[in-house]
Amino acid sequence: MAGAGGGRGGAGLSAAALLALPALALLALPALPVLPPGRGAEAQPGFSPPPGFSPPLLLPPGLREELRQRRRDLRRLEAAAGGGEAAGAAGLGCGDLSRATAVGVLGWGFTKVVARAALAGGGSVALKSVHGAGREVRRCVQRYGAPAGCRRLAAYKLLKEVTLLQRLQHPGIVKLHGQCYDNSGDAELRVTAMLELGSPLEMIQLLQTPWEERFKICLSLVKLLFYLAHSPLGSIALLDFQPRQFVMVDGNLKVTDMDDASTEELSCKEDNDCTLDFPTKSFPLKCSVAGKCEGINEKKNLFNAYRYFFTYLLPHSAPPTLRPLLSDILNATGDLRYGINETLRAFEKVLHLYKSGLYLQKRPLLLKDYISLKGFRTVEGEGYKCWPSYSHLGCLLSIHSAEEAAAICNSQLHCQSFIVTQHRTWTGRPLASFQSSWTDLIPDTNAVVYIKRSASSGERL
Ligand SMILES: Nc1ncnc2c1ncn2[C@@H]1O[C@H](COP(=O)(O)OP(=O)(O)O)[C@@H](O)[C@H]1O
Ligand SMILES: [Mg+2]
Repeated sequence: MAGAGGGRGGAGLSAAALLALPALALLALPALPVLPPGRGAEAQPGFSPPPGFSPPLLLPPGLREELRQRRRDLRRLEAAAGGGEAAGAAGLGCGDLSRATAVGVLGWGFTKVVARAALAGGGSVALKSVHGAGREVRRCVQRYGAPAGCRRLAAYKLLKEVTLLQRLQHPGIVKLHGQCYDNSGDAELRVTAMLELGSPLEMIQLLQTPWEERFKICLSLVKLLFYLAHSPLGSIALLDFQPRQFVMVDGNLKVTDMDDASTEELSCKEDNDCTLDFPTKSFPLKCSVAGKCEGINEKKNLFNAYRYFFTYLLPHSAPPTLRPLLSDILNATGDLRYGINETLRAFEKVLHLYKSGLYLQKRPLLLKDYISLKGFRTVEGEGYKCWPSYSHLGCLLSIHSAEEAAAICNSQLHCQSFIVTQHRTWTGRPLASFQSSWTDLIPDTNAVVYIKRSASSGERL
């Protein structure tokens, strides 16, 4: 184990060595202190490459050219971002990294590997660095036979991501807490980004959550795309837009993979140069007088949000009266009839109808069929299961009012009683717990239990 960090001094593994290990091997590691990646490593407030930040001449010319290209792109991005340090530049540096303890791998992609680390002062972060055994580096090595140069090439992508994360701040973008890099010695440039810790997005799990939670994910995504369309760096497209590029932090969706973001809109001479192609659909766009395909980045993001998120998450088990509005959103984003502004407006309308209870159909009042007992609640574990419940143990659903809960209880075969709990969902709606029995009541000054009259007449109180 110590051998893996050999030559870098100290008992633990360096962050770079740690993160360069094949990801699966890492899972078996015990907690390890994380050392900064090599001698002379300095935390840099911004990511402006230090002097001498150029590839050595020993590298194959093709690779040298690719490195030059990436460095140029990075400089251009920094210049567009106003150069120098970003506002609110991240605080953690190599010192914090050296005192942190790596806990395990969170995930990896073609370019980067991400590990969880515990900070010495408490709290956890996600450490991102180049995935030495990832597809990007492997392909480059096959081509050029220069592992260190190829890792440097991949490091430029991570530098680009860090530069973007420094400039772009939004609740839908993972926070950059700091970074550490080392450009000393050989052709390699070791970069570690320290990010807000999340958990990888599990689409299958999301499909099983209540509609309100799935709507929240889609709304967060729409707000993120609105920000990206109007960002300080211009309209930004996420070129590799898939659920695996997002994580969840405290129930909120955040994009984490930004190295494939494009701040440039496609240049054109005529409208024919501006076709937006997807595997199932193509959209002809206009070429502006300025020679750019109008709105192409915004449209690309929106169609991707439609095909990877909205189609799966929006419609199922939505309140019936909201379904026509939701299918309008699906159709209008699937045809790119809506831009991001109209999409956000449509989402906010749905949210308003839902939060205010205006979506509820005029129905006969049913609460009169229930006896309410103030100062009591039912015993936990008396619940039957229903879908999609907020709890695996029983039937816990979001409601607008006791009246709506009575309608739900009437529609469910096993329901005999319900209580409105103190818990609220993200929209501020209370959760109600539906029960198949009402005989075991316990005193609770804050609670009210509603019992079906038909149930109470058939049983002893
Ligand atoms: N902040 C984070 N918290 C938890 N997991 C993360 C975080 N960032 C990334 N991951 C996980 O690591 C994987 C790889 O990160 P990503 O930036 O997408 O690398 P790549 O550019 O190689 O695709 C992601 O798919 C995700 O599962
Ligand atoms: Mg990725």
